Amino acid sequence: MQRLLDHQTQANSDISTLDTPFLADALAGLSAGRKSLPCKYLYDERGSQLFDRICELDEYYLTRTETQITADNAEAIAEAIGTGAVLVEYGSGSSLKTRVLLDHLQAPAAYIPVDISEEHLLGTARVLQNEYPELDVRPITADFTQGFDMPQGLNSERTCVYFPGSTIGNLEKHAAIRVLRLISEQIGSSGGLLIGFDLQKSREVLEQAYDDSLGVTASFTLNMLRRANRELGADFDLSQFEHVSFYNAEAGRIEIYVESQCDQSVTIAEEQIEFEAGERIHIEYSHKYTIPGFAQMAESVGFSQRAVWTDDDNYFAVMYFEK
Ligand SMILES: C[S@@+](CC[C@H](N)C(=O)[O-])C[C@H]1O[C@@H](n2cnc3c(N)ncnc32)[C@H](O)[C@@H]1O
Repeated sequence: MQRLLDHQTQANSDISTLDTPFLADALAGLSAGRKSLPCKYLYDERGSQLFDRICELDEYYLTRTETQITADNAEAIAEAIGTGAVLVEYGSGSSLKTRVLLDHLQAPAAYIPVDISEEHLLGTARVLQNEYPELDVRPITADFTQGFDMPQGLNSERTCVYFPGSTIGNLEKHAAIRVLRLISEQIGSSGGLLIGFDLQKSREVLEQAYDDSLGVTASFTLNMLRRANRELGADFDLSQFEHVSFYNAEAGRIEIYVESQCDQSVTIAEEQIEFEAGERIHIEYSHKYTIPGFAQMAESVGFSQRAVWTDDDNYFAVMYFEK
């Protein structure tokens, strides 16, 4: 018992001197009138593994649909990207769809996976380098909303950003436009953008995709609180919060929250946060687009649509843009 207490005292004194972006964002988000936590913190190592399990769920049509679109059109996509390009992937996760692309690309100069989930990124990059020994794989741990420096010594004039997974949909429209503008600057006048995003469809299909029967999505959402407990010394009681998600048709997005099941208070770095029963913390949006709506957003920062591929049900779209 004493060892446990010593350990906790040690952990708490470490945490009281913590000064991390996660702590600053958590305190700011939880002290606001409408509580929120930024969705990028869903992805620690466990979060990335849970997301991989979500991708395999029956209800989560997004991954298998985008993978199929990519496989069905791989030659046309590779032709659009062209020979000898540097492929920079935003939010690369386990780089699963990327393998379909890499199998078809002509002599890519390098593959640069960019992700915020460092351990998962570096592990994936190691595996990929073994699978593609000829390929120059250069992972970058970064928050793509903030911009990042490209590695030195890349032997190519042409950069293509690959942004699959409907990750752009997690950003509110003004933030999505800002990231599209960063991409536009990064690729210069000779590059391209290959991007996958989810399309508007029936409420039933959408809501099932974000609240599966096995509860994997709920574990993924609640992992945010688990991470805050571990990294920030918070004391969220996970049995007193629940995952809530629904489609907001007017805003065209899935909204995901954790909901307090009772009146309770939570301590983070000596700050006490009060919750009423039924009060929610906003965790994530997943915006659903139309093809013309998305094209218009990309055109607003200087992109021109070159190609669009979709599935028979029009569930998901993959678009290719140049400047
Ligand atoms: C929805 S998953 C998509 C993963 C993969 N691209 C796919 O298509 O299956 C989002 C990925 O983006 C990463 N991510 C989320 N926000 C990020 C950010 N702000 N900067 C960098 N990576 C981020 C996550 O760690 C995760 O790997």
